[in-house]
Amino acid sequence: MSSFYYDKSHEVIGRFVKADLDWDTVILTKNTTESINKLAHRFPFQRGDIVIATEMEHHSNDLPWRFRARVEYVPVDEKGCLQTVILEQMLKKHYPHTRLVAVCGASNVTGHINDIHYLAALAHEYGALILVDGAQLVPHRPVDIKPHDDPAHIDFLAFSGHKIYAPFGCGVLIGPRHFFQQGNPDQTGGGTVSLVTKEQIIWAGLPDREEAGSPNVLGALLLADTLQYLQQLGLERMAAYEDELTCYALEALSSVPGIIIYGSQPRVGVITFNLPSFPHAQLGSILCHEGGIGVRTGCFCAQTYVRKLLGLNTEQPLSYWSQKSPAHWPGMVRISLAAYNTREEIDRLAALLRQIADNANYYKHLYPFSHHQQEYLPPKSHHYDWRSYKA
Ligand SMILES: Cc1ncc(COP(=O)(O)O)c(C=O)c1O
Repeated sequence: MSSFYYDKSHEVIGRFVKADLDWDTVILTKNTTESINKLAHRFPFQRGDIVIATEMEHHSNDLPWRFRARVEYVPVDEKGCLQTVILEQMLKKHYPHTRLVAVCGASNVTGHINDIHYLAALAHEYGALILVDGAQLVPHRPVDIKPHDDPAHIDFLAFSGHKIYAPFGCGVLIGPRHFFQQGNPDQTGGGTVSLVTKEQIIWAGLPDREEAGSPNVLGALLLADTLQYLQQLGLERMAAYEDELTCYALEALSSVPGIIIYGSQPRVGVITFNLPSFPHAQLGSILCHEGGIGVRTGCFCAQTYVRKLLGLNTEQPLSYWSQKSPAHWPGMVRISLAAYNTREEIDRLAALLRQIADNANYYKHLYPFSHHQQEYLPPKSHHYDWRSYKA
Protein backbone atom coordinates (compact mmCIF):
# COMPACT_ATOMS: atom_id res chain seq x y z
CA MET A 1 0.00 0.00 0.00
CA SER A 2 2.76 2.46 0.92
CA SER A 3 4.45 1.71 -2.44
CA PHE A 4 1.22 2.65 -4.21
CA TYR A 5 1.02 6.00 -2.43
CA TYR A 6 4.75 6.60 -2.82
CA ASP A 7 4.45 6.07 -6.60
CA LYS A 8 1.34 8.25 -6.71
CA SER A 9 3.17 11.10 -4.95
CA HIS A 10 5.53 11.34 -7.96
CA GLU A 11 2.53 12.00 -10.20
CA VAL A 12 1.11 14.67 -7.89
CA ILE A 13 4.49 16.40 -7.71
CA GLY A 14 4.96 16.25 -11.50
CA ARG A 15 1.48 17.61 -12.18
CA PHE A 16 2.13 20.51 -9.78
CA VAL A 17 4.53 21.93 -12.38
CA LYS A 18 2.48 20.62 -15.34
CA ALA A 19 4.99 17.91 -16.30
CA ASP A 20 3.92 15.57 -19.11
CA LEU A 21 4.41 12.28 -17.30
CA ASP A 22 4.60 10.30 -20.54
CA TRP A 23 7.64 12.39 -21.44
CA ASP A 24 9.15 13.30 -18.07
CA THR A 25 10.10 11.36 -15.01
CA VAL A 26 9.91 12.68 -11.45
CA ILE A 27 12.89 11.58 -9.37
CA LEU A 28 12.80 12.10 -5.63
CA THR A 29 16.02 13.06 -3.88
CA LYS A 30 16.97 14.61 -0.55
CA ASN A 31 16.95 18.24 -1.68
CA THR A 32 17.72 20.57 -4.58
CA THR A 33 21.46 20.16 -4.05
CA GLU A 34 21.23 16.40 -4.46
CA SER A 35 18.97 16.79 -7.52
CA ILE A 36 21.49 19.06 -9.25
CA ASN A 37 24.42 16.84 -8.31
CA LYS A 38 22.54 13.86 -9.73
CA LEU A 39 21.94 15.68 -12.99
CA ALA A 40 25.58 16.76 -13.13
CA HIS A 41 26.72 13.15 -12.73
CA ARG A 42 24.15 11.75 -15.15
CA PHE A 43 24.83 14.30 -17.89
CA PRO A 44 26.85 12.59 -20.63
CA PHE A 45 29.48 15.31 -20.96
CA GLN A 46 32.32 14.96 -23.39
CA ARG A 47 35.63 16.77 -23.58
CA GLY A 48 35.13 20.41 -24.56
CA ASP A 49 31.50 20.57 -23.43
CA ILE A 50 30.38 23.77 -21.75
CA VAL A 51 27.79 24.51 -19.08
CA ILE A 52 26.63 28.11 -18.94
CA ALA A 53 25.73 29.03 -15.38
CA THR A 54 25.26 32.55 -14.06
CA GLU A 55 26.81 34.86 -11.48
CA MET A 56 23.57 34.79 -9.50
CA GLU A 57 23.54 31.08 -8.71
CA HIS A 58 23.39 29.46 -5.30
CA HIS A 59 26.53 27.35 -4.78
CA SER A 60 24.33 24.29 -5.33
CA ASN A 61 23.81 25.28 -8.96
CA ASP A 62 27.42 26.22 -9.52
CA LEU A 63 29.85 23.85 -7.81
CA PRO A 64 28.37 20.55 -9.13
CA TRP A 65 29.04 21.69 -12.73
CA ARG A 66 32.65 22.73 -12.12
CA PHE A 67 33.79 19.15 -11.73
CA ARG A 68 31.99 17.88 -14.81
CA ALA A 69 32.49 20.43 -17.58
CA ARG A 70 33.92 23.82 -18.40
CA VAL A 71 31.66 26.40 -16.75
CA GLU A 72 31.10 29.89 -18.12
CA TYR A 73 29.15 32.46 -16.12
CA VAL A 74 26.61 34.93 -17.47
CA PRO A 75 27.30 38.24 -15.68
CA VAL A 76 24.71 40.20 -13.74
CA ASP A 77 24.37 43.97 -13.80
CA GLU A 78 24.86 46.24 -10.77
CA LYS A 79 21.25 45.58 -9.68
CA GLY A 80 21.84 41.84 -9.81
CA CYS A 81 19.80 41.17 -12.97
CA LEU A 82 20.96 38.62 -15.49
CA GLN A 83 22.46 40.11 -18.65
CA THR A 84 20.53 38.03 -21.16
CA VAL A 85 22.07 39.82 -24.14
CA ILE A 86 25.44 38.52 -22.99
CA LEU A 87 23.98 35.03 -22.54
CA GLU A 88 22.99 35.06 -26.20
CA GLN A 89 26.48 36.24 -27.19
CA MET A 90 27.98 33.42 -25.12
CA LEU A 91 25.69 30.82 -26.71
CA LYS A 92 26.70 32.10 -30.16
CA LYS A 93 30.40 32.16 -29.32
CA HIS A 94 30.46 28.65 -27.88
CA TYR A 95 28.06 27.08 -30.39
CA PRO A 96 27.75 24.04 -30.62
CA HIS A 97 29.62 23.20 -27.38
CA THR A 98 27.15 24.48 -24.79
CA ARG A 99 25.24 21.48 -23.57
CA LEU A 100 23.33 23.07 -20.72
CA VAL A 101 22.22 26.44 -19.37
CA ALA A 102 21.91 26.13 -15.60
CA VAL A 103 19.98 29.02 -14.08
CA CYS A 104 17.88 29.79 -11.03
CA GLY A 105 14.19 30.57 -11.45
CA ALA A 106 14.48 33.15 -8.68
CA SER A 107 17.50 34.27 -6.67
CA ASN A 108 17.75 33.37 -3.01
CA VAL A 109 19.70 36.62 -2.48
CA THR A 110 17.68 39.31 -4.22
CA GLY A 111 14.53 37.32 -4.98
CA HIS A 112 14.98 38.46 -8.59
CA ILE A 113 12.88 36.36 -10.97
CA ASN A 114 14.39 35.21 -14.24
CA ASP A 115 12.23 34.79 -17.33
CA ILE A 116 12.83 31.05 -17.48
CA HIS A 117 10.81 30.48 -20.64
CA TYR A 118 12.67 33.15 -22.56
CA LEU A 119 15.95 31.62 -21.37
CA ALA A 120 14.74 28.13 -22.34
CA ALA A 121 13.86 29.25 -25.87
CA LEU A 122 17.27 30.92 -26.16
CA ALA A 123 19.14 27.84 -24.94
CA HIS A 124 17.20 25.60 -27.34
CA GLU A 125 17.87 27.92 -30.27
CA TYR A 126 21.58 27.23 -29.75
CA GLY A 127 21.19 23.47 -29.23
CA ALA A 128 21.54 23.50 -25.43
CA LEU A 129 19.22 22.15 -22.74
CA ILE A 130 18.12 24.13 -19.70
CA LEU A 131 18.06 23.30 -16.01
CA VAL A 132 16.03 25.59 -13.79
CA ASP A 133 16.99 25.59 -10.13
CA GLY A 134 13.46 26.12 -8.84
CA ALA A 135 14.31 26.11 -5.11
CA GLN A 136 13.11 29.72 -4.76
CA LEU A 137 10.69 29.99 -7.67
CA VAL A 138 8.45 26.97 -7.15
CA PRO A 139 7.43 27.96 -3.59
CA HIS A 140 6.51 31.50 -4.64
CA ARG A 141 5.06 31.35 -8.16
CA PRO A 142 3.02 28.80 -10.12
CA VAL A 143 5.48 27.04 -12.46
CA ASP A 144 4.49 25.41 -15.75
CA ILE A 145 7.35 23.60 -17.45
CA LYS A 146 5.30 23.57 -20.71
CA PRO A 147 4.96 20.74 -23.27
CA HIS A 148 8.22 19.27 -24.51
CA ASP A 149 7.59 20.38 -28.10
CA ASP A 150 7.26 24.02 -27.00
CA PRO A 151 10.59 25.86 -27.52
CA ALA A 152 10.10 27.43 -24.08
CA HIS A 153 9.90 23.99 -22.39
CA ILE A 154 12.01 23.54 -19.24
CA ASP A 155 14.08 20.38 -19.72
CA PHE A 156 15.11 19.89 -16.09
CA LEU A 157 13.61 21.34 -12.93
CA ALA A 158 14.92 20.90 -9.39
CA PHE A 159 13.37 22.03 -6.13
CA SER A 160 13.15 21.21 -2.40
CA GLY A 161 10.12 20.19 -0.36
CA HIS A 162 11.23 22.03 2.75
CA LYS A 163 11.15 25.39 0.96
CA ILE A 164 7.53 24.89 -0.01
CA TYR A 165 6.10 24.25 3.46
CA ALA A 166 6.73 20.45 3.42
CA PRO A 167 9.11 18.80 5.90
CA PHE A 168 12.86 18.46 5.30
CA GLY A 169 14.23 15.48 3.41
CA CYS A 170 12.48 15.37 0.05
CA GLY A 171 13.79 17.05 -3.09
CA VAL A 172 12.70 16.79 -6.71
CA LEU A 173 14.37 16.40 -10.08
CA ILE A 174 12.18 16.36 -13.16
CA GLY A 175 13.56 15.59 -16.61
CA PRO A 176 13.00 13.56 -19.78
CA ARG A 177 12.55 9.82 -19.30
CA HIS A 178 14.77 9.03 -22.29
CA PHE A 179 17.61 11.03 -20.73
CA PHE A 180 17.64 8.95 -17.53
CA GLN A 181 17.14 5.70 -19.43
CA GLN A 182 20.62 6.07 -20.92
CA GLY A 183 23.73 4.96 -19.07
CA ASN A 184 23.99 3.74 -15.51
CA PRO A 185 22.42 5.44 -12.49
CA ASP A 186 24.79 7.66 -10.50
CA GLN A 187 24.06 5.66 -7.35
CA THR A 188 23.48 1.95 -7.51
CA GLY A 189 22.26 -0.72 -5.13
CA GLY A 190 18.94 -1.88 -3.73
CA GLY A 191 15.88 -0.56 -5.48
CA THR A 192 17.70 0.38 -8.68
CA VAL A 193 17.59 -3.03 -10.38
CA SER A 194 15.05 -5.50 -11.59
CA LEU A 195 17.38 -8.49 -12.29
CA VAL A 196 20.97 -9.17 -11.26
CA THR A 197 23.44 -11.98 -11.74
CA LYS A 198 27.15 -11.83 -10.96
CA GLU A 199 27.75 -10.77 -14.55
CA GLN A 200 24.63 -8.91 -15.58
CA ILE A 201 22.33 -6.14 -14.40
CA ILE A 202 18.95 -5.12 -15.73
CA TRP A 203 18.09 -1.74 -14.30
CA ALA A 204 14.62 -1.12 -12.89
CA GLY A 205 12.26 1.26 -14.65
CA LEU A 206 12.04 4.97 -13.88
CA PRO A 207 12.10 6.54 -11.40
CA ASP A 208 13.23 3.52 -9.31
CA ARG A 209 16.59 3.15 -11.05
CA GLU A 210 17.45 6.74 -10.03
CA GLU A 211 16.28 6.41 -6.42
CA ALA A 212 18.82 4.11 -4.80
CA GLY A 213 18.12 2.61 -1.39
CA SER A 214 15.06 2.74 0.83
CA PRO A 215 12.90 5.67 -0.18
CA ASN A 216 11.74 8.53 2.00
CA VAL A 217 8.11 7.42 1.76
CA LEU A 218 6.80 9.79 4.40
CA GLY A 219 8.69 12.74 2.91
CA ALA A 220 7.25 12.05 -0.54
CA LEU A 221 3.68 11.71 0.75
CA LEU A 222 3.93 14.86 2.81
CA LEU A 223 5.37 16.83 -0.10
CA ALA A 224 2.59 15.61 -2.41
CA ASP A 225 -0.04 16.42 0.22
CA THR A 226 1.43 19.88 0.77
CA LEU A 227 1.37 20.63 -2.94
CA GLN A 228 -2.26 19.54 -3.20
CA TYR A 229 -3.12 21.73 -0.23
CA LEU A 230 -1.38 24.72 -1.83
CA GLN A 231 -3.32 24.09 -5.03
CA GLN A 232 -6.55 24.16 -3.03
CA LEU A 233 -5.53 27.45 -1.44
CA GLY A 234 -4.82 28.83 -4.92
CA LEU A 235 -1.27 29.37 -6.15
CA GLU A 236 -2.12 32.55 -8.05
CA ARG A 237 -3.86 33.99 -5.00
CA MET A 238 -0.90 33.20 -2.75
CA ALA A 239 1.56 34.68 -5.25
CA ALA A 240 -0.55 37.85 -5.50
CA TYR A 241 -0.65 38.17 -1.70
CA GLU A 242 3.11 37.68 -1.43
CA ASP A 243 3.69 40.17 -4.21
CA GLU A 244 1.58 42.81 -2.49
CA LEU A 245 3.37 42.14 0.81
CA THR A 246 6.75 42.41 -0.89
CA CYS A 247 5.87 45.82 -2.40
CA TYR A 248 4.61 46.94 0.99
CA ALA A 249 7.85 45.77 2.63
CA LEU A 250 10.04 47.50 0.03
CA GLU A 251 8.22 50.75 0.64
CA ALA A 252 8.31 50.41 4.43
CA LEU A 253 12.00 49.56 4.45
CA SER A 254 12.92 52.41 2.16
CA SER A 255 11.81 54.80 4.94
CA VAL A 256 14.71 53.60 7.14
CA PRO A 257 17.49 56.22 7.15
CA GLY A 258 20.57 55.08 5.22
CA ILE A 259 19.27 51.61 4.32
CA ILE A 260 20.63 49.96 1.18
CA ILE A 261 18.21 47.50 -0.44
CA TYR A 262 19.64 45.14 -3.05
CA GLY A 263 18.12 43.76 -6.24
CA SER A 264 15.23 44.88 -8.39
CA GLN A 265 11.82 43.82 -9.64
CA PRO A 266 10.38 41.38 -10.53
CA ARG A 267 11.15 39.53 -7.33
CA VAL A 268 9.68 36.91 -5.03
CA GLY A 269 9.34 37.75 -1.35
CA VAL A 270 13.05 37.85 -0.63
CA ILE A 271 14.59 41.19 0.36
CA THR A 272 18.20 41.83 1.35
CA PHE A 273 19.55 45.01 2.85
CA ASN A 274 22.31 46.59 4.92
CA LEU A 275 22.54 49.51 7.31
CA PRO A 276 25.92 51.04 6.43
CA SER A 277 27.53 51.31 9.85
CA PHE A 278 26.49 47.82 10.99
CA PRO A 279 28.12 44.54 10.06
CA HIS A 280 25.36 42.24 8.75
CA ALA A 281 25.83 39.80 11.64
CA GLN A 282 25.47 42.58 14.20
CA LEU A 283 22.27 43.89 12.64
CA GLY A 284 20.86 40.36 12.49
CA SER A 285 21.63 39.85 16.15
CA ILE A 286 19.98 43.14 17.14
CA LEU A 287 16.83 42.30 15.17
CA CYS A 288 16.71 38.89 16.81
CA HIS A 289 17.34 39.96 20.38
CA GLU A 290 15.46 43.26 20.34
CA GLY A 291 12.56 42.34 18.12
CA GLY A 292 12.27 38.56 18.02
CA ILE A 293 12.67 38.91 14.25
CA GLY A 294 14.37 35.99 12.50
CA VAL A 295 16.52 37.06 9.58
CA ARG A 296 19.41 35.38 7.82
CA THR A 297 22.69 37.19 7.47
CA GLY A 298 25.83 36.58 5.43
CA CYS A 299 26.10 35.59 1.80
CA PHE A 300 23.42 32.91 1.62
CA CYS A 301 25.55 30.30 -0.20
CA ALA A 302 25.90 32.68 -3.14
CA GLN A 303 29.26 34.32 -2.51
CA THR A 304 29.95 35.36 -6.10
CA TYR A 305 26.62 37.15 -6.39
CA VAL A 306 26.82 38.84 -3.00
CA ARG A 307 30.34 40.14 -3.63
CA LYS A 308 29.19 41.52 -6.97
CA LEU A 309 26.14 43.25 -5.46
CA LEU A 310 28.33 44.76 -2.76
CA GLY A 311 30.66 46.07 -5.44
CA LEU A 312 33.61 44.22 -3.93
CA ASN A 313 36.70 43.36 -5.82
CA THR A 314 36.13 39.78 -6.86
CA GLU A 315 39.87 39.34 -7.26
CA GLN A 316 40.37 39.71 -3.50
CA PRO A 317 42.25 36.52 -2.55
CA LEU A 318 40.12 34.09 -0.57
CA SER A 319 42.95 33.80 1.96
CA TYR A 320 42.16 37.42 2.92
CA TRP A 321 38.62 36.46 3.97
CA SER A 322 39.49 33.08 5.43
CA GLN A 323 41.48 34.81 8.18
CA LYS A 324 38.36 36.65 9.31
CA SER A 325 35.31 35.41 11.17
CA PRO A 326 32.31 34.60 8.89
CA ALA A 327 30.52 37.36 10.82
CA HIS A 328 32.89 39.77 9.05
CA TRP A 329 32.78 38.30 5.58
CA PRO A 330 30.92 40.35 3.00
CA GLY A 331 27.22 39.96 3.48
CA MET A 332 23.73 41.31 3.91
CA VAL A 333 20.63 40.83 6.01
CA ARG A 334 17.76 38.93 4.40
CA ILE A 335 14.08 38.71 5.15
CA SER A 336 11.94 36.10 3.43
CA LEU A 337 8.22 36.63 3.09
CA ALA A 338 5.69 33.86 2.77
CA ALA A 339 1.95 33.41 2.69
CA TYR A 340 1.74 33.47 6.48
CA ASN A 341 3.45 36.87 6.95
CA THR A 342 1.50 40.06 7.59
CA ARG A 343 1.77 43.82 7.12
CA GLU A 344 1.92 44.21 10.90
CA GLU A 345 5.11 42.15 11.01
CA ILE A 346 6.66 44.33 8.34
CA ASP A 347 5.64 47.47 10.22
CA ARG A 348 7.37 46.11 13.33
CA LEU A 349 10.54 45.33 11.39
CA ALA A 350 10.63 48.78 9.76
CA ALA A 351 9.98 50.50 13.11
CA LEU A 352 12.79 48.61 14.79
CA LEU A 353 15.18 49.32 11.90
CA ARG A 354 14.34 53.02 12.14
CA GLN A 355 14.99 52.89 15.87
CA ILE A 356 18.36 51.19 15.27
CA ALA A 357 19.35 53.64 12.51
CA ASP A 358 18.40 56.62 14.69
CA ASN A 359 20.37 55.28 17.66
CA ALA A 360 23.24 53.63 15.81
CA ASN A 361 25.93 54.36 18.40
CA TYR A 362 23.83 53.03 21.23
CA TYR A 363 23.12 49.72 19.48
CA LYS A 364 26.64 49.31 18.12
CA HIS A 365 28.04 49.48 21.64
CA LEU A 366 25.28 47.39 23.15
CA TYR A 367 26.07 44.48 20.84
CA PRO A 368 29.85 43.88 20.92
CA PHE A 369 31.49 41.05 19.02
CA SER A 370 32.17 38.04 21.22
CA HIS A 371 35.44 36.48 20.06
CA HIS A 372 34.58 33.45 22.12
CA GLN A 373 31.21 32.83 20.47
CA GLN A 374 32.10 34.47 17.16
CA GLU A 375 28.82 36.40 17.30
CA TYR A 376 27.55 39.84 18.15
CA LEU A 377 25.71 39.48 21.45
CA PRO A 378 24.05 41.81 23.95
CA PRO A 379 25.42 41.80 27.50
CA LYS A 380 23.58 39.42 29.81
CA SER A 381 22.40 42.38 31.88
CA HIS A 382 20.56 43.86 28.90
CA HIS A 383 16.86 43.26 29.42
CA TYR A 384 14.71 43.71 26.42
CA ASP A 385 11.11 43.01 25.65
CA TRP A 386 10.46 42.91 21.92
CA ARG A 387 6.71 43.16 22.51
CA SER A 388 7.25 46.73 23.61
CA TYR A 389 8.19 47.81 20.03
CA LYS A 390 5.12 49.33 18.53
CA ALA A 391 4.89 50.00 14.83
C1 LIG B 1 18.20 29.12 -5.20
C2 LIG B 1 18.61 27.95 -4.36
N1 LIG B 1 19.14 26.89 -4.97
C3 LIG B 1 19.50 25.79 -4.28
C4 LIG B 1 19.37 25.73 -2.93
C5 LIG B 1 19.77 24.50 -2.19
O1 LIG B 1 18.63 23.92 -1.64
P1 LIG B 1 18.77 22.70 -0.64
O2 LIG B 1 19.57 23.19 0.52
O3 LIG B 1 17.36 22.37 -0.28
O4 LIG B 1 19.46 21.62 -1.36
C6 LIG B 1 18.84 26.83 -2.25
C7 LIG B 1 18.76 26.82 -0.78
O5 LIG B 1 18.69 27.82 -0.12
C8 LIG B 1 18.43 27.96 -2.98
O6 LIG B 1 17.89 29.02 -2.37
